[in-house]
Amino acid sequence: MVLTRIHHVGIAVKDMDESIERYRAALGAELVHRAVNEKEGLEAAFLRTGEGEVELMSSTRPESPVGKFLAKRGPGLHHVAYGVSDIAAALADARAAGLELIDSEPRMGMHGSLIAFVHPKTMGGVLTELVET
Ligand code: CO
Repeated sequence: MVLTRIHHVGIAVKDMDESIERYRAALGAELVHRAVNEKEGLEAAFLRTGEGEVELMSSTRPESPVGKFLAKRGPGLHHVAYGVSDIAAALADARAAGLELIDSEPRMGMHGSLIAFVHPKTMGGVLTELVET
């Protein structure tokens, strides 16, 4: 697959407002997008950090996937996202390389780009996201 860059890093946080303010004030990161996905019980905020972005993630209810992540592991690194020029080709390459895909087909992410997740167990323990850029 053709990688373009590390696109963003996903970080699970407990308090979204406080975390956004921390990243803005301490790093000078710029908030570019903030949205809630009720179906997934997820609130996400994307902040530009120079070339890349950080995706802050919090839960809207404790039983959501991010809510369970926070309960089990606490705040911290959730996933690393790589930009790819062609997500369908990247998924085919990932499958051929023996990676375990969570999303067998691309789906629309919260930032309006096609994404797919790869299971952490074939990626050194890190949940991995592919983003079409
Ligand atoms: Co992400």
